[in-house]
Amino acid sequence: MSNTTAFDGVVGDRMNRVDGRLKVTGAAKYSAEYQIPGLVHSALVGSTITKGRIKSIDTKAAERAPGVLAVITHLNSPKVPGFAAKTNPDEPPAIGQPLRVFYDDKILFNDQPIAIVVADTLERARYAARLVKVQYTPEEHRTHFEANKQRGFLPTQAKRNPKSAQNDYDRGQKDGYQTAPVKLEAEYVHTSEMHNPMELQSIIAHWEAPDRLTVYDKVQAVKGTQKAFAKDWGLPEENVKVIATFVGGAFGNGLHNWPHETAAIIAAKVTNRPVKLMLTREQMFTMVGYRPYTWQRIGIGATPDGKLVGITHESVGQTSTYEEFTESTLQQTRMMYTSPNVSTRYRILGLDISTPIWMRGPGEATGAFALESAMDELAHLLNLDPIEFRLRNYTEKDPDNGKPWSTKYLKECYQMGAERIGWNKRQMKPGSVRDGDWFVGYGMGVGTFGANRRGAKASARLLANGNVVLRSATTDIGPGTGTVMVQIAADALGMPAEKISFELGNSTFPEAPSQGGSATVASVGSAVVAASTALKQKLQQLGGASFASAKPEEIRINGGQITLASNAAAKVSYADLMKQNGGQEVEVIAEAKPGNERQQYSMYSFSVHFAEVRVHALTGEVRVSKMVSCADAGTIANQKTAGSQMIGGAVGGIGMALTEGAVMDHRFGRYVTKDLADYHVPVHADAPHIDVAFVNKPDLLVDPMGTKGIGEIAIIGVAPAITNAIFNATGKRIRELPVTPDKLI
Ligand code: MOS
Repeated sequence: MSNTTAFDGVVGDRMNRVDGRLKVTGAAKYSAEYQIPGLVHSALVGSTITKGRIKSIDTKAAERAPGVLAVITHLNSPKVPGFAAKTNPDEPPAIGQPLRVFYDDKILFNDQPIAIVVADTLERARYAARLVKVQYTPEEHRTHFEANKQRGFLPTQAKRNPKSAQNDYDRGQKDGYQTAPVKLEAEYVHTSEMHNPMELQSIIAHWEAPDRLTVYDKVQAVKGTQKAFAKDWGLPEENVKVIATFVGGAFGNGLHNWPHETAAIIAAKVTNRPVKLMLTREQMFTMVGYRPYTWQRIGIGATPDGKLVGITHESVGQTSTYEEFTESTLQQTRMMYTSPNVSTRYRILGLDISTPIWMRGPGEATGAFALESAMDELAHLLNLDPIEFRLRNYTEKDPDNGKPWSTKYLKECYQMGAERIGWNKRQMKPGSVRDGDWFVGYGMGVGTFGANRRGAKASARLLANGNVVLRSATTDIGPGTGTVMVQIAADALGMPAEKISFELGNSTFPEAPSQGGSATVASVGSAVVAASTALKQKLQQLGGASFASAKPEEIRINGGQITLASNAAAKVSYADLMKQNGGQEVEVIAEAKPGNERQQYSMYSFSVHFAEVRVHALTGEVRVSKMVSCADAGTIANQKTAGSQMIGGAVGGIGMALTEGAVMDHRFGRYVTKDLADYHVPVHADAPHIDVAFVNKPDLLVDPMGTKGIGEIAIIGVAPAITNAIFNATGKRIRELPVTPDKLI
């Protein structure tokens, strides 16, 4: 795509968010904010034990409480048709099988929803929920990862692609690192991290007819949610409508459907009213996923001159007892460095905790903590600069499959980042820079994530007033999707951004994939290009003889008419175009799919993160005093929104490294960190100025805009950059996240 079009708001511009004003003025409507006639409120009752059965449940007092319309439990819940097919109550964890809410008397985790109370006001629903009395038959629960390790880890049940990061993998010699002259073995632990987007998970469920369901739901996949609920309720997909016009932050937990959503849908069915359910912040910790506790072991070895001999990387991620969750923790280890020998082993451990879910940089962020820490440790043993060590093992093709990279500008990232952070100030000897009571150090870490793209559709309609409206069933969870789609359309249509709008977050729009895996711009942006091109072609057809031989890029949509750049005499008014179009506005739907480029090329985005930290000698307090994040993410469609995404990822990485970690009281299987006071998500005071640099070179093999994903690489590699900087500052190597001050004193 050209960056030279003479309009504002094309690809490459630092355009302001198209929905910025709506968001800051409160006009943007989030899922819990829809006013629907007859709307009622609800509250969940959660189990107070962690494993066992419900012996009895007394709902009488709740039912008699003022304003209560219904109290629903497993005893009186209508059966969800999609649940009934799965009848074996002791079946092993299955993939993509959320908890079957109100299905039976089994308790599988603490705070599992066991009842929903519907009332005319939120306060009355919450009050009545407290009146539900439950007796349990508890069983011994297992929630402690380390204490249950001796039970043995399970291989995943998933029948997967043989190349998947979850399968056993050996390149070269198994455990070949053991033969290296310089080697180390180390274990790394990532404590569970909880999803805390600003907007709480919420849903309004509305049965508009006995077989027609509309949900206003906080999700990252309106089509995926439509399909899931259609399946659950045995409905044709088109009878389920999912609206998620605005999403107040989501980092993966909106990619799955959770028990509270089905609870609200059941409640709406029972009461025949639209039911709103918004989780409390505390419930966000117990039933909508989290980045799982993961134990990793790395063995890594090199020659004395810094050539890797081998890496063995094992990872065990926690999942629930009823649903298998896996992530690609080991992918970066397979393809980042030219090691002749690489072995990876992925295992899971099911515990009596709700199912984890992807969290930004899912798998890779956890895996990169181990890999990039181990690389730093080995560089130290070799007395090599960590960047130099990585450059000695730089790969010009993908060592996992031998394919060339579609594009890879990782060396540029090393160089830009090193300059900007002032890497030359870094001392090789740890603990050698002190500023008063503070040790100062520098560290870096690399991140990568597949430059994914999936098929997507979009529509484009030319309105009588000359504006163009595009639509696609994607979402905008905050990165600025809606804004960038307008820019892509402005470029492709050759018309000003202010005349273009892009509508999303509605399952009735043309199909788009879930907003996950950093693939939205590549996938939906390509569909926007296709729809824009198709619209021009349609206009060209309708425009008659003088347009017949024109190229689409010559067509201008402006000033009440379409014209041709090369022929001033060629013009047709919108009114005439509509007449030609049977009196209708001109609309097209187009689909864009990736071609077979992936058979020949390996496609990844890359990032390098640099941190300067200050560690207090007496208290162990860590301050990240400076950060630089550099990314090779193809064409940067909008430096402003992309830059904000990188900053957000870096802040998330500070949380992962230093402050975020769920603490459970295993006697009860209950989290003690369950609000934003006890579970510390980094705030402004924790985040330094974060300098973002993009290589900004297109990758036209990935998509026609040349973009590669940003969302995940913004966080992958940040945590080890910080822990490596802590080592450089203090000489203390902390292998368990988060690095709280107690670990440093
Ligand atoms: Mo992301 S973890 O793909 O929302």
